[in-house]
Amino acid sequence: MSKENNQILKNTNAKLLDEFNASIMFDKELYSQDIKGSIAHSKMLALQGIINIDEQKVIEKGLLKVKDEIENGDFKFSLEYEDIHMAVENRLTEIVGDAGKKLHTARSRNDQVCTDFTLYVQEKTKSIQNQIKELILTLTNIALKHTTTLMPGMTHLQHAQPINFGYHMMAYANMFKRDFERFASSYERNNYSPLGSAALAGTPHKIDRFKTSEFLGFTAPTSNAMDSVSNRDFALEILFNIATTMMHISRISEELILWSSYEFRFVRMSDEYATTSSIMPQKKNPDVPELLRGKTGRVYGNLISLLTVMKSLPLAYNKDTQEDKEGVFDSVSTIEISLSILNEVIKTMIVNVENMETACKIGHLTATDLADYLVQKQNMPFRTAYYLTKEVVEKANSLNKDISQLNIEEIRNSSKELENIDEEIVSYLDLKNSMNSRNSYGGTSTKQTEVQIENIKNWLESI
Ligand code: ARG
Repeated sequence: MSKENNQILKNTNAKLLDEFNASIMFDKELYSQDIKGSIAHSKMLALQGIINIDEQKVIEKGLLKVKDEIENGDFKFSLEYEDIHMAVENRLTEIVGDAGKKLHTARSRNDQVCTDFTLYVQEKTKSIQNQIKELILTLTNIALKHTTTLMPGMTHLQHAQPINFGYHMMAYANMFKRDFERFASSYERNNYSPLGSAALAGTPHKIDRFKTSEFLGFTAPTSNAMDSVSNRDFALEILFNIATTMMHISRISEELILWSSYEFRFVRMSDEYATTSSIMPQKKNPDVPELLRGKTGRVYGNLISLLTVMKSLPLAYNKDTQEDKEGVFDSVSTIEISLSILNEVIKTMIVNVENMETACKIGHLTATDLADYLVQKQNMPFRTAYYLTKEVVEKANSLNKDISQLNIEEIRNSSKELENIDEEIVSYLDLKNSMNSRNSYGGTSTKQTEVQIENIKNWLESI
């Protein structure tokens, strides 16, 4: 192909190519990390005598000016400069002249993008952790008020055994505690500085990567340059951590949707966070928990998408990895708003104690207590006790009562084998007594729920 043709080909495609190739329209999100990383790099270059102190000062001042321009909306982001790294460097050079051209000594965009992105992920990890902490506190405060509020505990979404509402809230508090810890462990594992890895093989310049690592708050520099520029595990981890937290959010959302339905009426969402129907004026819809449940889908998508981008990539840098950012930005902003709004919805919901307690009288929640009593006090084989209990349940059904509402005569009349049963059985079938009898560590009794609250409170104070 002639030179001329080549030129024509390039010109024809240039705009399309820029549009396709550039990441500036989304990686501008990393401007502050990019500038932070560049300042650290310039300081290290000066300390190592690779640039002089005056040049470093000029570079630092220039970089801060670029930052101001971006924050004031005066910075022109253009496709011409492909990505945030080129855009900042170019503007720096426009402002400070030749000193700006020295900034890129002993680094490459490959280590630069990993450094910026790791810094971003680490900052967001901390802020998401703070939001999770807030949510755990909210759940714990609600739990504290409801350690004696009876509700039906369910399996298969069927009434199973009486629990208290505080205990149910603490189940979620424990879930979110694991999420917090998952973010914390990722933070530690990924807190290493790729800066100075250069393109893939390190650099002949006498740099000090320990210094830049320290300036940027990392634990240490990464130990293999090739791995450093290829690695996106830190991005995958935050995506997984967000996906898992969103999965937990979707579960509590689902329960809020159920609990606020006419069938349950366990909670009422504050008017502030409920929406209305455009056609049915009487309706109050749980759009917020529904959206939270729905948004879980996109964050799963972001995780799968990056896992797929990374699959089979040869070492070291490949342009494929430019696809790593948008999904992470999306998952981060999704979890941020989700945690904020969920916290508000839970904080402001009205708990309908009476309806929860009334619901406990449907479904013979204390039937297992009768069976357990017969095994424990009368030394009966469990299977025999099980069938006798079934007879009592049938009796209760025939009287249109719940097993917890039967008096001693009614129980004795249920079966020949129960005609001499001790009167104390009545108290065993009582809903509150039944809940409190599950006093094993981690159980639902008020006492154990209080232990769980105490444990979480101590943990919250320790972090
Ligand atoms: N915009 C690029 C990215 O996000 C930066 C690294 C580009 N490096 C390269 N050698 N083309 O991945």
